[in-house]
Amino acid sequence: MARPLASVLYHVPALLQQLGNRIAACVDATMSGSLFAAWRTGTSGPLPEGGVATRALLLARAAHPYAGRRVTTPQPAPWSDADIQRLLAPVARALPQPTSLSPLPFDLNAGVPDAASLPAQALAEAATRALAADPAGALTYGGALGFEPVRAWIAERQAENTGLAVTAANVMLTSGSAQAIDNIAATFLAAGDIVVMGAPTYPGAIRAFRARGAHIVDVPQDVDGLEMVGLASALEHQRAIGAPAKLIYVIANYDNPSGATLPLHRRQELALLAARYRALVVEDDAYTGIDLNGPPPTSLFQIAGGQGIIRVGTFSKTIATGLRVGWVVADAAIVRALAFMRFDNGSSSLVQRTVLEYLRSGAYEPHVEQLRAIYRERRDVASAAVRAHCGELVRFEVPAGGFFLWLQLAAELEAEQVVRAAQERGVAVTPGRGYFANGGGARQIRLVYSALPPEQLRTAIALFGEAVASVAGRASHAAAPPR
Ligand SMILES: Cc1ncc(COP(=O)(O)O)c(C=O)c1O
Repeated sequence: MARPLASVLYHVPALLQQLGNRIAACVDATMSGSLFAAWRTGTSGPLPEGGVATRALLLARAAHPYAGRRVTTPQPAPWSDADIQRLLAPVARALPQPTSLSPLPFDLNAGVPDAASLPAQALAEAATRALAADPAGALTYGGALGFEPVRAWIAERQAENTGLAVTAANVMLTSGSAQAIDNIAATFLAAGDIVVMGAPTYPGAIRAFRARGAHIVDVPQDVDGLEMVGLASALEHQRAIGAPAKLIYVIANYDNPSGATLPLHRRQELALLAARYRALVVEDDAYTGIDLNGPPPTSLFQIAGGQGIIRVGTFSKTIATGLRVGWVVADAAIVRALAFMRFDNGSSSLVQRTVLEYLRSGAYEPHVEQLRAIYRERRDVASAAVRAHCGELVRFEVPAGGFFLWLQLAAELEAEQVVRAAQERGVAVTPGRGYFANGGGARQIRLVYSALPPEQLRTAIALFGEAVASVAGRASHAAAPPR
């Protein structure tokens, strides 16, 4: 019986392939004199290796599986922005832009270290040593927890500072503390979960928590940081309505943006409240080490005996942001849960080993000491310049550490207008709005003093003062009664 046409056509590609194999094998065999054998071996199985025609055919096939055949590929319409927007997760449309480096001549916007102090040479030498010591280890995946000797180094210092039995099992390395925060969010938060944060607070943390669908409850800050009355009532309210807080996020030392440092008695109260309401505390220590008035009060981690606190740290501010080496220190069970939830095949082995070489060289402590002197001078220069150029129009507290002045503008000034006027003069500062999860910041501006050397800082703040004065002038002009 005749085969149906479809069945015959089905075998055509395979037959063509066999024919091609035979021809290629024969061309090669003609050159080597074994034509008959070649015809037989060319019908099935792998092609005999080495022949000119065989290699040509293999190359052609590798380049395109349909090599030698005419194929017309239909050309679909190009993707538009709207096509991509339609596919985005709703939260990816709702989140605000993250802050970034500014292209303006005077960047008082990005919280980065002084460029001239970056230890590039020492890190280059450390990287060379790390690669030479164990090339395969330095160039393989970092593993979920990170390079054990770096974890042990961090654990030793935490144990020394806190008197607690912190070991490498309590430490996980991350790609900057930003990843640590994101990883905590991924591990603990589901849609609708409650996170309690300062108002203002670090926008990166707001984004990370919101990205998991968390609901953020604000606690007001005063000059000493989170207000405990506000925290207690927020925790109690959440418990009472059946939606207890899961996380409390706090930057106890040199807050970003407020610069505030939580006093010891507030830390003790916070630790008690968190334990009572069984909310985990994320103690973000990004600026620890940038102590400009001596060491900060005891950490929440130490006060709580390491219980229920996830301490987040980074080498971004004390070595370099580009390293992307951060960490969490927490109870080993929490560390295991965090490691389980990450999906990045670990952070960079090479960078972790480089950092270890740098730490072991003994250069780190003197470097941080030098940074403190640099930032102390800049904080003081910036404070004096803001007073001189903004006068009564701007108030602020002098921070005990970190990188920021948090400016409160006079009633007639709007932050967005001042930021725009500053931009027109080549100065980037950050409007307060982004630091509030649920509204606020209309009359606040964050000004970074860490990045620019004193002379540039003075010039930039003089220009900023002009911007403030121009907006105030317009405001008073607008408010003036008609003549
Ligand atoms: C409070 C705070 N936490 C975390 C980070 C993230 O820093 P990194 O990911 O570079 O460690 C920053 C950066 O500015 C910060 O200000």
